[in-house]
Amino acid sequence: MTIAEIFETMEYGPAPEATGPVEAWLDAHGRAFGPFIAGELASGEGAAGDGAETFETHNPATTEPLARIRQCGAEEVDAAVAAARAALPGWQALGGHGRARHLYAIARAVQKRSRLLAVLETLDNGKPIRETRDLDVPLVARHFYHHAGWAQLLESELPGWAPVGVCGQVIPWNFPLLMLAWKIAPALACGNTVVLKPAEYTPLTAMAFAEICVDVGLPPGVVNLVTGDGRTGELLVRHPDVDKVAFTGSTEVGRLIRAATAGSGKKLSLELGGKSPFVVFDDADLDGAVEGVVDAIWFNQGEVCCAGSRLLVHEAVAEAMYEKLRARMETLRVGDPTDKAIDIGAIVAPVQLERIEGLVRKGVEEGATLWQPSWSCPRDGWFYPPTLFTGVAPAATIAQEEIFGPVLVAMTFRTPEEAVALANNTRYGLAASVWTENLNLALDVAATVVAGTVWINCTNQFDAASGFGGYRESGFGREGGREGLFEYLQPGWRARAKAHEERGPEAAEPAADSPAAAESAAGRAPLPPIDRTAKMYIGGKQARPDGGYSVRVLGPRGELVGEVGAGNRKDVRNAVAAARKAQPKWGKASAHLRAQVLFYVAENLAARGDEFARRLAAMTGASAEAARREVELAVERLFLHAGRADKYAGTVQATPIRNFTFAVHEPVGTIGIVCPDAAPLLALCSALGPAVAMGNAVVVVPSERHPLAATDLYQVLDTSDVPGGVINIVTGERAALARVLAAHDDLDAVWCFGDAADCAAVERASTGNLKRTWCDGGIARDWSDPEQGAGEEFLRQAVQVKNIWVPFGEGVSKP
Ligand code: NAI
Repeated sequence: MTIAEIFETMEYGPAPEATGPVEAWLDAHGRAFGPFIAGELASGEGAAGDGAETFETHNPATTEPLARIRQCGAEEVDAAVAAARAALPGWQALGGHGRARHLYAIARAVQKRSRLLAVLETLDNGKPIRETRDLDVPLVARHFYHHAGWAQLLESELPGWAPVGVCGQVIPWNFPLLMLAWKIAPALACGNTVVLKPAEYTPLTAMAFAEICVDVGLPPGVVNLVTGDGRTGELLVRHPDVDKVAFTGSTEVGRLIRAATAGSGKKLSLELGGKSPFVVFDDADLDGAVEGVVDAIWFNQGEVCCAGSRLLVHEAVAEAMYEKLRARMETLRVGDPTDKAIDIGAIVAPVQLERIEGLVRKGVEEGATLWQPSWSCPRDGWFYPPTLFTGVAPAATIAQEEIFGPVLVAMTFRTPEEAVALANNTRYGLAASVWTENLNLALDVAATVVAGTVWINCTNQFDAASGFGGYRESGFGREGGREGLFEYLQPGWRARAKAHEERGPEAAEPAADSPAAAESAAGRAPLPPIDRTAKMYIGGKQARPDGGYSVRVLGPRGELVGEVGAGNRKDVRNAVAAARKAQPKWGKASAHLRAQVLFYVAENLAARGDEFARRLAAMTGASAEAARREVELAVERLFLHAGRADKYAGTVQATPIRNFTFAVHEPVGTIGIVCPDAAPLLALCSALGPAVAMGNAVVVVPSERHPLAATDLYQVLDTSDVPGGVINIVTGERAALARVLAAHDDLDAVWCFGDAADCAAVERASTGNLKRTWCDGGIARDWSDPEQGAGEEFLRQAVQVKNIWVPFGEGVSKP
């Protein structure tokens, strides 16, 4: 070929990355790997030679096997968890600075082996070397650096928080080493030890990471790895000696893990699927947006949980955008991922390829228009071409299901309202990308779209300083940023309480032989309806119980002190509907207004303090002085949260591109709050205060035994400008109501304080819509203690963090 011809065609020559060092590394390990337990990596004969069950991991670009992997069973999982448990005290005793040194050493080692890790990842996963070299591996190092910093800063920045313990972590195959870093770095920084299971298709970089742990002198047992498929994962998440489970993967398996861990007391975070919108307005820079689409859906073959897989484009520019896109797709290069000039590599495994092909067939069957470039993919591996569907109906399977492949589905809109409605028309809420030159519009959409991350005029930006995670069925919990640390921490008082299990039941429980206990044991038979029942409070109005039944409220000696409505499923439904209706306006009301309302509630409660104190004393048998003190503390809590309402708005994160990354605290939405019997007024105010202050609407089930403080409270609410529906109160049998709340699809979260059985039931019943749960798991709080009754965890549970990335630059400020 002449130089003139080369200029004419602009053909790429081959630019292969050498794979020799990785092949040599695999050979040195006998191309067989098993678990990494207590600092010992099983490889070669030791990994697969004793008749144990094994499977192969393949190079998706050639379909050739790379290595044999052991399927770990109960024996290995037990040993790994035991090693992590044994290593825990020593790791914690090292202190923040000691742990920071180790994390720093890991970060350095990742950098020193960066090319080996990048090539190994590309061979095992099929993703282009361009991405593993320039993105995955640098981000892995960045994560360990960032968390070395957190280890150092933990004591000063997060006083009062303690590690959770042994963490069981299960990761997917799409970013094998990066997901490992996202899981391991924060866990270790916070003083936990881990057992991690890599995905069965891509275990090899985890094996190389095990070597790094050994080489940098990480104490044995701090990091352990078990290889295998979902069966191994299930053994790990169900293991009784695991304190915390962190999972990234499909929503389906996320649900299984929610069900498997419910009621176990394990802390849980889930990072699940997505169907993220990529919204292009008519004033957007279309060429920039086209490059954005390339990054959004053809990065990593579209095997990205936050892939911008739904293109929503203003109808005035839709055809122009599609035309530019098709032209750009024609120039994308699919092929050998070790070639440095390849854009799209191979699909991880045949099963994933079949899933993509199946969904694409479904798209055609359902009437959408398919377009693929004129060239064909290589046939010697598991490749799939970039694909565009236009004319897609919003309810079509391909518009709703996660395809997890290089397939973009496009729809049009006419107004910003329509764009947001389409964007939010999904059960997921992981990410969104918004393209417009109008910053006003961009931020308005960013504030309205339901997603954990919003990128403005950019996409797929990740950094250790910015939390990542979803809303709705994309899971709960965050990875990265300050917010991500809380997934691996627990309040110090809780750690102490767990360590001293001899702690008694809730403080206000009557003695077992008291008349109240006898009444409870005998079961509280519902009485026929009576007129003077304290009513429930729904939508700002007093409401009679739907069932028309009441329950008796007894004093400490078994005497009748009142009656309340016996709430049922229908009452909860009405209350949730009222909360759902009221929340959007309350959530958007200014924090100043919410603060004013809470101050006013406190003022009116204080004005009737004596009356409330008498009521408390009559119900619980507390002394007049103790009852008065409880009212005063309740008033103080309301003041506290009124004060916090406009001071917990979020932060600006220091991410490395030229941009502002705002971590915005948004309300969770509607929250069901199940109160304990202890401190009936104080607990109620301590829980509803932060929820309401942060812009949520609540459905409260007050203490079952002492509910009258709550039913008295609605008179206070009525006179305090609380908008109808923001606070709803349903009285009745706590266990039954807690289960109804947890199963309700229109509640976004449930908080359950006290009784372990109720907490377990709440976690189990929340599996359906994967709502956030916050359960005390039977550990009694001392509500009068500021740490236990008003710690930061109340605020954290009342918000979800949305990270909004806003890049800038017109050449005014020179970098
Ligand atoms: P998956 O959710 O089955 O696998 C993820 C991890 O969970 C793997 O390590 C697997 O071994 C483990 N696992 C499977 N069953 C388990 C169980 N019962 N208990 C504990 N661990 C278990 O995802 P898979 O099958 O690899 O991919 C299926 C679909 O899931 C993809 O097509 C894609 O749509 C989605 N997916 C989403 C990811 C995300 O990051 N959101 C990542 C990977 C897949």
